[in-house]
Parts: sequence; structure tokens; C-alpha cells
Amino acid sequence: DTVYLKDYQSPAYAIEKTDLDVAIYPGESFVEARLQLVRQSGLVSELALDGEQLELLAIEINSQSLSKDQYRLDDGKLVLIEPPERFELYTKVRIQPEQNTSLEGLYRSRTIYCTQCEAEGFRKITYYLDRPDVMSDFTTRISAAKSECPILLANGNLVEQGDLTDGRHYAVWHDPHKKPCYLFALVAGDLSVMEDHFVTASGRNVDLKIYVEEKDLDKCDHAMASLKNAMRWDEEVYGREYDLDIFMIVAVDDFNMGAMENKGLNIFNTSCVLAKPETTTDAGFQRVEGVVAHEYFHNWSGNRVTCRDWFQLSLKEGFTVYRDAEFSADMGSPTVKRVEDVAMLRTHQFAEDAGPMAHPIRPASYMEISNFYTLTIYEKGAEVVRMLANLLGPELFRKGTDLYFERHDGQAVTTEDFVQALADVSGRDFSVFQRWYNQAGTPQLEVRDEYDENTREYTLHITQSTPATPECADKQPFHIPIAMGLLGDAGEIALKLRDEELEDLPTDNTHRVLELTEQAQSFVFTDVPEKPVPSLLRGFSAPVKLKFAYSRDDLVRLALRDSDGFNRYEACQRLALGVIEDALAADSGGELNNFTPDERLLAVYQQLLQEEGLDRAMLAYMLLLPSEGFIAEQQSVIDPIAIHRARGEVAGYIAKALHKPLLAVLENYDLRKPYKPTAVDIAARLLKNTALEFLMREPDQAVVDLCVKHLQQANNMTDELASLTALVNSRSPLAADIAPQKLADFYAKWQDESLVVNAWLALQARNANPGGVERVEALLAHPAFEANNPNKIRSVVGVFANANPVNFHGGTDADPEAGYRFLADQVIALDSKNPQIAARLITPLTRWRRYDKQRGGAMRGQLERIKHTPGLSSDSNEIVSKSL
Ligand code: ARG
Ligand code: ZN
Repeated sequence: DTVYLKDYQSPAYAIEKTDLDVAIYPGESFVEARLQLVRQSGLVSELALDGEQLELLAIEINSQSLSKDQYRLDDGKLVLIEPPERFELYTKVRIQPEQNTSLEGLYRSRTIYCTQCEAEGFRKITYYLDRPDVMSDFTTRISAAKSECPILLANGNLVEQGDLTDGRHYAVWHDPHKKPCYLFALVAGDLSVMEDHFVTASGRNVDLKIYVEEKDLDKCDHAMASLKNAMRWDEEVYGREYDLDIFMIVAVDDFNMGAMENKGLNIFNTSCVLAKPETTTDAGFQRVEGVVAHEYFHNWSGNRVTCRDWFQLSLKEGFTVYRDAEFSADMGSPTVKRVEDVAMLRTHQFAEDAGPMAHPIRPASYMEISNFYTLTIYEKGAEVVRMLANLLGPELFRKGTDLYFERHDGQAVTTEDFVQALADVSGRDFSVFQRWYNQAGTPQLEVRDEYDENTREYTLHITQSTPATPECADKQPFHIPIAMGLLGDAGEIALKLRDEELEDLPTDNTHRVLELTEQAQSFVFTDVPEKPVPSLLRGFSAPVKLKFAYSRDDLVRLALRDSDGFNRYEACQRLALGVIEDALAADSGGELNNFTPDERLLAVYQQLLQEEGLDRAMLAYMLLLPSEGFIAEQQSVIDPIAIHRARGEVAGYIAKALHKPLLAVLENYDLRKPYKPTAVDIAARLLKNTALEFLMREPDQAVVDLCVKHLQQANNMTDELASLTALVNSRSPLAADIAPQKLADFYAKWQDESLVVNAWLALQARNANPGGVERVEALLAHPAFEANNPNKIRSVVGVFANANPVNFHGGTDADPEAGYRFLADQVIALDSKNPQIAARLITPLTRWRRYDKQRGGAMRGQLERIKHTPGLSSDSNEIVSKSL
């Protein structure tokens, strides 16, 4: 069934009050709901409430049991026939949280009962109008055995608690803020708590509590510090204060996504909240900081102002990702954060936008909303908000968000409402800009330049085009802000546009933003003393592909001298990509004939390694070759095996040529320095581990010894894991001889730390050396693997299919399709247990059109196999049928 945005109708009834009583027993739970319903419009002959996998035990309207002609149970619906204008609906249902492997609704993760309701999980708890524009006042009573579940939590404030007979007890929570049911949460279990508090700008004391299993109490400090930083930051940057007396976070091991912003009671995947130096990498620390902030920021962008319907998902997610990205930028290095986010966007979101599941950030239709928690909704959505913020500038943007929050507080609204608030405070016309919300696909800019020595005029001719996507073949032009500067021999050139009075542009001297709103436009700069190199799309000012015929000398100039850090990185990537493409062109049947990489790449790297004051993380990212996934995105027909070979060849060459300075990085690194997750220290580790990875490509015994020394003496997981990874990935026999033992030692040391075991599984699933399919099959059979745990599945199956292209697409020696078959087998096995995760795993196969006939055909064959699985979930069915 497809749902369409154009069919939206406001709800026939409001639910003014929602009273829940959830009684948890071993193997079954009982939910009694009392809903105060009030008709919103004219006559309603039938009212359909959502409900799935519920066993209805009792139903009453205004305390009268219903007869069979007053209601019926349809597929997933409870239909009330001729309901009164205002009434109390009472239902009692039985559910089985212990059997709930979908991790939606009320389920049990290890010893903890918890809920996940977004988007449509509440209907697995009770009959309800499960849609975000129905906002209600919730009271929740939970009861359970005191020994099993000493802690009972729900949204809002605790209003009552006490003991019952038979060793049971109860707690009653009331949430004073009206909310849609997707923000409902409850938790019951044996949890330990870390407590702190925060005083808001206006003086409200807020109790902060992080609930975890006792064994994890030593891993909560970073999340708590991040939470307090986020609370302060949202007050300072957006003027947003917290609005309850208590804020709780609960960590559970089985969770489909990263975390969930339930009002006052965020529920987190352990991977996004637990952190300590010995077990968590720098990337892990950063993820915790980012996700804690993201969920906290939702309290305003999502909860106080929510979505009218699920087509508006990016209203809260795009905005909140933008907010958390700016927060992380402020806590660390803004340029580094930008580089990381853009690399991810261009590799993965661009691929989504070019594939069969491409959709606008506000889709016009969907079959299964869970499939739309995508990189497009989240990351591209954040890019669109970033463009708006940059077009307005900080003061106006703040005015606009203030107006948005004030105007729509307590409402369920649309993306137009958001843009309208920004238009109202700025007087800007965003009618063309709105197309970013309604058209999918990545626009491509083609830029050509022209310099006239006589008139000293320099012209940029810019055209845009966007490839057809499934929902729309013919794209209208986008409004594209292009931040730019011009680099001359002597430095940056002052920018004066010829038709200045016609252009409404900022006047600052060497940096400005051109606004492209038509299919083709030219911008003429005057008084340009020499032919410059243009630095375009600085800071990645729009989520587009840029084509400009840069010479390699141009790129060298940009890499070494541009004032924009992002574009320096970008120039290095382009230079490296060009050299890898040279290697691809020289590849005939696995032999690289007469290939020597362009020396300018090495020359740039050498200079960067010597540059004083260059951020170590930026240096690391500038040295890092584009990933195989990113290179693949640039090819018209992807040959993953050739890409792997070409990139490896260039990397090996760099490792040899830069042996000395890379070794110096390693030797200068202080292994004993106490771990801190500060930007400077993270950068130092990133650079050291990048150098180590290069050196371990073709190491001598001394380098291998150094790697082992780093593995053994590391005082933190970042260094320990990087050393083990470098050892395992190395193709050198010197490394291969000892890698298996080191892997076994690592497991023996960390087998009781589930999150470390995930990393151990993932590093093997990512290993590009031959034999990948057999390796992941062995991992599935390993005692460390848990077949129902999403983190474990992602670490093995997800990582293999997405981050090990040479093995996924290469299969085994005996069977070139073994990787595809492996993935399809896993999807089919998982689909009936956890459809959300199964559907997500399918993604790499959906890209079959990007490969040659044989590979593409084999991938397609596995999609067909999945499609014909009896009882396939609607989640998987949507992905498969749209991609065939
Ligand atoms: N709103 C959550 C977040 O972004 C994600 C929840 C997604 N849940 C799901 N079942 N798809 O923070
Ligand atoms: Zn979110």
C-alpha cells in the first residue's frame, strides 16, 4: 500500500487525554488504555484506530461494553461504528514483549523492557490514532515484579509510586506536555543510574539521569558531559531551554537505530551512549557526543514543534542534524567536522540519490515509513537547512528559528512552515529554494571560466542539471548558493561583480556567495589582474556535484594556498582521484602497465607534511586517499576489483615514497600520553594511525615491530584497534604470520565488552584480503555473534556488504556470486524477525544497475530471490520492488 502526501486529511478526532496502565508479567504484558476522544469535524460514521499484534481482551465506550455491531477488527485496525461526539474509549489488550524481535513497540532487550514507537510502533502497544498530528496528555502507570524490574520509568514527572501484593510494585508518570504517541516511552528493568544536574538559564534545576546496566556505570561520564554541553549550547545558540525537571537517558543493547528522543526519556543504543577510553575509539566518543546532543536538541526541533505527518520527517531530522553538526563543530574543529560529514554525504547520500530509492527530502509517497529514515532525509535535509542558514546569516537565521519555535510551539507542522518563518524574518523569496524539498537527485554544476586580459574581466559561466529520478524526470532549476573566491599567483583577488547593482550580494572582499537560481547564469568579475584559479563551493556550500576543468597545477595551488580549509582538502581529493583514475586507465587485466603516479601528488603531500600550524586532522584527511566507495561513485560502470587494485597501487607507492616522514610521525607519537577526547589529541591519533596504515601496506620488519608495539602499549581503544586493523589488513607475510594470534588475543581480552566485540567483528568483516565470504560466514558461527542483535548484524553483515567491496563483489574463488548470495541469505533469514533491519541490509544489492552485465545480473538475481520469499515484509518488499 502506498501512502500519498496529497491525500493528507486532518484527524477526525482528537485524543485529549491518554491514560495507560501497563502491567508487565513474565512472557506477557497487559495494557489498559483510557482515551478521551473528541470529534474535530462533522459527522463521522466510522473511526479507525491503529493496532497491530494486539490481543483485544475488553472494549468499552463510556464504561459500557461494546456489542459486536458497534466495532470490528480489520487488518491492523479497530473500527468504531458511529462513535459519539465525545467519549472515553477503554481497551485492554495482551501483548508479548519477550517475543517481539522487531524491536518496535514494547520489547525486551536482555533484562530491560523498553519501547520504540517512532514512527509507527505505538500501535503495537495499544489501539490508538497513531499519527503525529494527534497530540495528547499522557499519564502512564507501570507495574512489574520489584525484583526483576526495580526501576519503572515513563515520560514526564513521577507522580506516584508504591508497593503492591505478590512482590510487585508500580509507578505513575505524567507528562505535562502534549505529544504525539511516537514520543511515548516506558522502561522497566534492573538498572543502575548515574546522576547529575543542570541549572537552566532561567534557573530551573534539572535532574539528569543516565540509566545503564550496572557493568556499564563506568562508561557514562562522556555522555553526561556531552548532555550538559548540549543543554548550554542550545540556550546560547538557539535560546532554547529545557522544560521539565528531569531528563533521563536509558541505554539498551538491542536497538534498531542510534537513539530516540522520547519526551524526557531518551532511549539509546548502548553504542551511542557508553564510552570510556579503554573500550571506545575517538570516533565512538564523537558519536556519543553527537547523538546525545541530537536527541536532546529534538526536545525543541521535533517535540515542542513536531511533524504534521511522516512526509515532514526531515522537518525535525534535517534541522536537528544541522543543529548537532554545528554543536560538534563548536566542540571540536569545524573544518574537520565538515570534511567528515561531506565525505559521508558524497559517498553514501549521493549514491542513494542516484539509485532506485531516490526521494526528495520531503517525499510525496511511501510504502513503509521506516524505509525513509534515510541519509537523504537526515543528511541532505541538514544540508538544505545549512544553505538556508548561510543565505540568511547567523542573526537573521536565529530570528527565523525564534519565530518558528514561537509561532508553532505545541503544533504539528510542515516543512513549508519552517521555510515560511525564515522568509518572514528576512523578506527573502524562497519559492525557487522550496524545490530542494520536492525534487530528488543531486544537481550537477558545470562551470567554465573565461579571462580577458584587455578588459581584465573574468567570467564564470555556470549551468546546472539534475538527472532524472524515479519520482520526477524533468527537474526545475535549484537555488544553489556557491561560496567562492579567486586565487591569483600572489594570493586571493578582491571580488567585484560587474553588474553589482543588479546582484544582491555580500560585499566582503575576497570571499562571496553567488546565487544560482536559473539553469544557466554568468557572473562577470572586473579588475581581475591575472587569470585566477577559482575556489568554488567553499565549505561545500551546496549538496551538488561540481565539474570544472581544473588542471593538476590548479589543484596544487588550491591544495597548498586556498584560504578555505575545506577546499584545500577538496583539491587534494581531486588530485588523488585523478592519479587513481590514471592507474585505472593503465590497468589491463590486473597488470598496471608503465604506471608511475603523477609526482605532483607526492609533492603536495610532502609540503603538507612540513607545513607549520596545519591541523593534524586536516593533514590526515588530506593525505587519506578517497575511499573505494567514493571512487566508485565517480565511475559510470563500477569495477570494484579494479578500483581496489588501483587505489592500493597508489597507496603503496605513497607509502614507499613518503616512508621517512610517515615513520617520523609514528616515532614522534607519545604512546604514554593519557587519553583525552579533545580535538587536538584526536587529530594527533588520527594522523599517527593514518601514517601507520600507509606504512603497513608494505612494511619491513621494523615497521611491523612498531605496529605490534603500538598494539601492546596502547592506553586507549583508538590506538589499540588501529594497530590491530593495520596488522590484519596488511598483505605482507610479515604481518599475516602474526595477525591471527593478535586477533585471538584481542578477543580473549575484550570478550566481555559487547561494544568492543562489535568492533572486533567489524574489522574482520572489513578485511579486504582474499577469503572475505568464508571469513564472514565463520564470524556468524562464532559464539560472539548474536543473531537478533542489530549491532552485531550490522558489524558483520552490514560492514561486509557496504565496506568490503572487493570481497562482496568478488565472491570466492569458486563462486563469484557468493557475496551476493550471502547477503540475500541473511536478509531472508532476518526479514520475518526484524523487517526494519532486513530491509536496510538490502541497499547494496539495489545498486545493481551501476555494475557490468554479469555482476549487475547476479545482484539482480538475488533481489528476485528475496522478492519471492513467502510472507516478505512490506519493508523489504518496498526496497526490492522499487529496485527491480
Ligand atoms: N528519531 C530518531 C532519531 O533520529 C530515530 C528513530 C527512528 N526509528 C525508526 N524506527 N526508524 O533520533
Ligand atoms: Zn533525529
